[in-house]
Amino acid sequence: MSVVIAIDGTSACGKGTLARKLARHYGFAHLDSGALYRLVALGVISKGGNPSRSEDAIRSAREIDPEGINDPHLRTGPVGEAASVVAAVPEVRAAVLDFQREFAVHPPGGANGAVIDGRDIGTIICPDATAKLFIDAKPRVRAIRRWLELKQRCDTAEATLPNIDRIEADLLARDQRDRTRKTAPLRQAEDAILLDTSDLDIEAAFVKALALINDKVESALAARHRG
Ligand code: CDP
Repeated sequence: MSVVIAIDGTSACGKGTLARKLARHYGFAHLDSGALYRLVALGVISKGGNPSRSEDAIRSAREIDPEGINDPHLRTGPVGEAASVVAAVPEVRAAVLDFQREFAVHPPGGANGAVIDGRDIGTIICPDATAKLFIDAKPRVRAIRRWLELKQRCDTAEATLPNIDRIEADLLARDQRDRTRKTAPLRQAEDAILLDTSDLDIEAAFVKALALINDKVESALAARHRG
């Protein structure tokens, strides 16, 4: 059994950055599961389809190529919004489930473990994960972080970026959709540890996360090496 760290949380809470840092620290493979839903959404949009039409979303989910997971076009606001619409369709979730489980069981590159971040990793995808974190932060803090991310990523002039109030409203709407959908809603698994990063920068959040999970991860790695 590989060692799995499941990181779930609200939109723009910093779970992706944290997951990448933890993966680097342990030498594990990292999967941003949100990027799979973003790929489905981008597929629909780029073919002129409608993310709210289940047929369009399902067709795109069956055609996605996970190799495209690092495409920078995935990170725009409209694609994130459309991702949360297609992610509510059960057939879309079913289409990307095996890929995620396979990643957890056989992490690419022969790594000893995987760090997967998303909304349902600790509850549905990897309920037996070695360690589970649920990340959150105050909406205003998340909106400011997303604004900075967009500014940096898109290299756009400040004036053309959505304002922070708008971003905050969009994040809250997306969280609400993610929490209330019927299939695999966003929620903290019973055995997940809550980490609020409102007052923590990236490094401080990493140090805190490590303190919360390191014993579990190290003993699972030791058990794995014993055979
Ligand atoms: O980066 P951000 O937190 O804004 O979003 P993301 O993690 O890239 O996820 C985009 C959307 O995909 C979310 O709003 C969810 O609706 C959906 N998602 C999901 O349903 N299940 C996951 N495991 C990951 C993402």
